[in-house]
Amino acid sequence: MENKPLIVLNFKTYAESMGEKAVRMAKFCEEVSVDSEVDIIACPQIPDIYRVANAVKIPVFAQHIDAVGAGSYTGHITADCVRSAGAKGTLINHSERRLLLSEIDAALQSAKKAGLTTIVCTNNIAVTSAAAALSPDFVAIEPPELIGSGNPVSKANPEIVSGSVSAVKKINPRVKVLCGAGISTGDDVAAAIELGTEGVLLASGVIKAKDPKAALFDLVKKI
Ligand code: G3P
Repeated sequence: MENKPLIVLNFKTYAESMGEKAVRMAKFCEEVSVDSEVDIIACPQIPDIYRVANAVKIPVFAQHIDAVGAGSYTGHITADCVRSAGAKGTLINHSERRLLLSEIDAALQSAKKAGLTTIVCTNNIAVTSAAAALSPDFVAIEPPELIGSGNPVSKANPEIVSGSVSAVKKINPRVKVLCGAGISTGDDVAAAIELGTEGVLLASGVIKAKDPKAALFDLVKKI
Protein backbone atom coordinates (compact mmCIF):
# COMPACT_ATOMS: atom_id res chain seq x y z
CA MET A 1 0.00 0.00 0.00
CA GLU A 2 2.89 2.36 -0.75
CA ASN A 3 2.41 5.65 -2.64
CA LYS A 4 -1.02 4.76 -3.96
CA PRO A 5 -4.31 6.30 -2.89
CA LEU A 6 -5.97 4.23 -0.25
CA ILE A 7 -9.61 3.55 0.53
CA VAL A 8 -10.33 2.42 4.10
CA LEU A 9 -13.86 1.11 4.63
CA ASN A 10 -15.01 1.10 8.25
CA PHE A 11 -17.80 -1.44 8.72
CA LYS A 12 -18.65 0.17 12.11
CA THR A 13 -21.43 -1.79 13.86
CA TYR A 14 -23.77 -1.58 10.88
CA ALA A 15 -26.03 -4.63 10.53
CA GLU A 16 -25.33 -4.51 6.78
CA SER A 17 -21.68 -5.40 7.39
CA MET A 18 -21.78 -7.83 10.32
CA GLY A 19 -21.18 -11.58 10.48
CA GLU A 20 -21.54 -13.27 7.08
CA LYS A 21 -22.49 -9.87 5.64
CA ALA A 22 -19.04 -8.65 6.70
CA VAL A 23 -17.52 -11.34 4.49
CA ARG A 24 -19.80 -10.33 1.59
CA MET A 25 -18.85 -6.66 2.01
CA ALA A 26 -15.14 -7.51 2.17
CA LYS A 27 -15.47 -9.58 -1.00
CA PHE A 28 -16.96 -6.54 -2.78
CA CYS A 29 -13.94 -4.55 -1.58
CA GLU A 30 -11.61 -7.25 -2.87
CA GLU A 31 -13.30 -7.41 -6.27
CA VAL A 32 -13.14 -3.64 -6.73
CA SER A 33 -9.55 -3.52 -5.47
CA VAL A 34 -8.41 -6.21 -7.90
CA ASP A 35 -10.30 -4.63 -10.80
CA SER A 36 -9.13 -1.06 -10.14
CA GLU A 37 -5.70 -1.78 -8.61
CA VAL A 38 -6.62 0.63 -5.81
CA ASP A 39 -5.80 -0.57 -2.29
CA ILE A 40 -8.93 -1.08 -0.24
CA ILE A 41 -8.82 -1.99 3.44
CA ALA A 42 -11.77 -3.57 5.26
CA CYS A 43 -12.37 -2.79 8.95
CA PRO A 44 -15.00 -5.21 10.26
CA GLN A 45 -16.09 -5.54 13.89
CA ILE A 46 -13.42 -7.24 16.00
CA PRO A 47 -15.22 -10.62 16.29
CA ASP A 48 -15.55 -10.70 12.49
CA ILE A 49 -11.83 -10.17 11.79
CA TYR A 50 -10.98 -13.86 11.76
CA ARG A 51 -13.72 -14.91 9.36
CA VAL A 52 -13.14 -11.92 7.05
CA ALA A 53 -9.35 -12.28 7.01
CA ASN A 54 -9.76 -15.95 6.11
CA ALA A 55 -12.07 -15.11 3.20
CA VAL A 56 -10.22 -12.29 1.40
CA LYS A 57 -6.70 -11.29 0.42
CA ILE A 58 -7.12 -7.54 0.88
CA PRO A 59 -5.85 -6.14 4.19
CA VAL A 60 -8.21 -6.36 7.15
CA PHE A 61 -7.83 -3.82 9.95
CA ALA A 62 -9.33 -3.70 13.45
CA GLN A 63 -11.58 -0.76 14.33
CA HIS A 64 -9.88 -0.32 17.71
CA ILE A 65 -7.31 -1.76 20.07
CA ASP A 66 -6.88 -1.06 23.76
CA ALA A 67 -3.74 0.24 25.38
CA VAL A 68 -3.07 -2.99 27.26
CA GLY A 69 -0.81 -5.94 26.64
CA ALA A 70 -0.99 -9.59 27.61
CA GLY A 71 -1.83 -10.34 31.23
CA SER A 72 -4.41 -9.76 33.89
CA TYR A 73 -6.87 -7.68 31.84
CA THR A 74 -10.46 -8.65 31.03
CA GLY A 75 -12.68 -7.50 28.19
CA HIS A 76 -9.91 -5.67 26.36
CA ILE A 77 -8.74 -5.94 22.76
CA THR A 78 -5.00 -6.41 22.37
CA ALA A 79 -2.84 -5.71 19.35
CA ASP A 80 -1.41 -9.24 19.49
CA CYS A 81 -4.88 -10.79 19.51
CA VAL A 82 -6.18 -8.87 16.46
CA ARG A 83 -2.91 -9.64 14.70
CA SER A 84 -3.28 -13.37 15.38
CA ALA A 85 -6.90 -13.16 14.15
CA GLY A 86 -5.55 -11.93 10.79
CA ALA A 87 -5.59 -8.13 11.07
CA LYS A 88 -2.77 -6.27 9.35
CA GLY A 89 -3.49 -2.95 11.01
CA THR A 90 -5.83 -1.00 13.22
CA LEU A 91 -7.71 2.24 13.61
CA ILE A 92 -6.96 3.99 16.89
CA ASN A 93 -8.98 6.81 18.50
CA HIS A 94 -11.91 6.78 16.08
CA SER A 95 -14.36 9.58 16.98
CA GLU A 96 -16.80 6.89 18.04
CA ARG A 97 -14.12 5.17 20.20
CA ARG A 98 -11.96 7.93 21.59
CA LEU A 99 -8.91 7.44 23.80
CA LEU A 100 -6.79 9.72 25.98
CA LEU A 101 -3.53 10.91 24.39
CA SER A 102 -1.54 8.66 26.76
CA GLU A 103 -3.71 5.71 25.70
CA ILE A 104 -3.22 6.51 22.01
CA ASP A 105 0.53 6.45 22.62
CA ALA A 106 0.35 3.12 24.49
CA ALA A 107 -1.94 1.59 21.83
CA LEU A 108 0.50 2.73 19.14
CA GLN A 109 3.44 1.13 20.95
CA SER A 110 1.55 -2.20 21.24
CA ALA A 111 0.47 -2.02 17.60
CA LYS A 112 4.03 -1.37 16.45
CA LYS A 113 5.37 -4.27 18.53
CA ALA A 114 2.71 -6.53 16.99
CA GLY A 115 3.61 -5.36 13.47
CA LEU A 116 0.28 -3.64 12.82
CA THR A 117 -0.09 -0.64 10.50
CA THR A 118 -1.67 2.22 12.44
CA ILE A 119 -4.26 4.85 11.52
CA VAL A 120 -4.92 7.39 14.27
CA CYS A 121 -8.18 9.28 13.78
CA THR A 122 -8.34 12.95 14.72
CA ASN A 123 -11.12 15.51 14.99
CA ASN A 124 -9.28 18.79 14.36
CA ILE A 125 -5.91 20.21 13.28
CA ALA A 126 -4.52 20.46 16.83
CA VAL A 127 -5.30 16.80 17.53
CA THR A 128 -3.85 15.89 14.13
CA SER A 129 -0.60 17.62 15.17
CA ALA A 130 -0.52 15.78 18.50
CA ALA A 131 -1.20 12.45 16.79
CA ALA A 132 1.50 13.06 14.16
CA ALA A 133 4.05 13.61 16.94
CA LEU A 134 3.39 10.02 18.07
CA SER A 135 4.49 8.68 14.64
CA PRO A 136 1.60 6.49 13.48
CA ASP A 137 1.67 5.31 9.87
CA PHE A 138 -1.39 7.43 9.07
CA VAL A 139 -3.58 10.07 10.66
CA ALA A 140 -7.17 10.36 9.45
CA ILE A 141 -8.83 13.73 9.95
CA GLU A 142 -12.59 13.33 10.46
CA PRO A 143 -14.66 16.28 11.71
CA PRO A 144 -17.28 14.54 13.90
CA GLU A 145 -20.13 16.79 12.76
CA LEU A 146 -19.75 15.53 9.18
CA ILE A 147 -19.60 11.81 10.04
CA GLY A 148 -22.58 10.01 8.50
CA SER A 149 -23.83 13.30 7.01
CA GLY A 150 -23.33 12.56 3.31
CA ASN A 151 -21.67 16.00 3.21
CA PRO A 152 -18.05 15.24 2.24
CA VAL A 153 -15.28 16.76 4.36
CA SER A 154 -13.19 17.23 1.21
CA LYS A 155 -15.79 19.71 -0.06
CA ALA A 156 -17.57 20.91 3.12
CA ASN A 157 -14.39 21.70 5.07
CA PRO A 158 -11.37 21.56 2.75
CA GLU A 159 -9.45 23.85 5.13
CA ILE A 160 -9.38 21.25 7.91
CA VAL A 161 -7.98 18.71 5.45
CA SER A 162 -5.31 20.94 3.92
CA GLY A 163 -4.53 22.35 7.41
CA SER A 164 -3.97 18.80 8.67
CA VAL A 165 -1.74 17.99 5.71
CA SER A 166 0.43 21.10 6.38
CA ALA A 167 0.57 20.44 10.13
CA VAL A 168 1.72 16.87 9.58
CA LYS A 169 4.35 17.97 7.05
CA LYS A 170 5.84 20.33 9.66
CA ILE A 171 5.71 17.90 12.58
CA ASN A 172 6.41 14.48 11.10
CA PRO A 173 6.47 14.30 7.29
CA ARG A 174 6.72 10.49 7.31
CA VAL A 175 3.14 10.29 8.56
CA LYS A 176 0.56 9.98 5.79
CA VAL A 177 -2.78 11.78 5.93
CA LEU A 178 -6.23 10.41 5.16
CA CYS A 179 -9.52 12.23 5.53
CA GLY A 180 -13.01 11.03 6.18
CA ALA A 181 -16.61 11.95 7.04
CA GLY A 182 -19.39 12.19 4.50
CA ILE A 183 -17.29 10.74 1.65
CA SER A 184 -19.39 8.76 -0.81
CA THR A 185 -18.38 9.41 -4.43
CA GLY A 186 -15.36 9.32 -6.70
CA ASP A 187 -15.52 13.12 -6.87
CA ASP A 188 -15.23 13.31 -3.07
CA VAL A 189 -12.17 11.04 -3.21
CA ALA A 190 -10.60 13.07 -6.03
CA ALA A 191 -11.14 16.26 -3.98
CA ALA A 192 -9.46 14.60 -0.98
CA ILE A 193 -6.42 13.62 -3.05
CA GLU A 194 -6.29 17.13 -4.54
CA LEU A 195 -6.01 18.50 -0.98
CA GLY A 196 -2.83 16.47 -0.41
CA THR A 197 -4.19 13.37 1.32
CA GLU A 198 -3.21 9.79 0.54
CA GLY A 199 -6.79 8.57 0.55
CA VAL A 200 -10.01 8.34 2.50
CA LEU A 201 -11.67 6.62 5.43
CA LEU A 202 -15.41 6.10 4.99
CA ALA A 203 -18.39 4.03 6.05
CA SER A 204 -22.04 4.90 5.37
CA GLY A 205 -21.57 5.98 1.73
CA VAL A 206 -20.77 2.34 0.91
CA ILE A 207 -22.21 0.26 3.75
CA LYS A 208 -25.65 1.92 3.61
CA ALA A 209 -25.74 2.20 -0.20
CA LYS A 210 -28.44 0.23 -2.06
CA ASP A 211 -25.64 -1.31 -4.13
CA PRO A 212 -22.37 -1.24 -2.11
CA LYS A 213 -20.33 -2.77 -4.93
CA ALA A 214 -21.46 -0.05 -7.35
CA ALA A 215 -20.69 2.57 -4.68
CA LEU A 216 -17.16 1.14 -4.35
CA PHE A 217 -16.64 1.19 -8.12
CA ASP A 218 -17.79 4.82 -8.16
CA LEU A 219 -15.32 5.69 -5.37
CA VAL A 220 -12.28 4.52 -7.33
CA LYS A 221 -13.36 5.81 -10.75
CA LYS A 222 -11.18 8.95 -10.65
CA ILE A 223 -8.09 7.39 -9.10
O1 G3P B 1 -14.59 5.83 9.95
C1 G3P B 1 -15.26 6.48 8.92
C2 G3P B 1 -16.25 7.42 9.42
O2 G3P B 1 -16.27 7.84 10.69
C3 G3P B 1 -16.89 8.30 8.42
O3 G3P B 1 -18.17 7.83 8.40
O4 G3P B 1 -20.32 7.36 7.40
O5 G3P B 1 -19.34 9.65 7.22
O6 G3P B 1 -18.36 7.78 5.92
P1 G3P B 1 -19.09 8.19 7.16
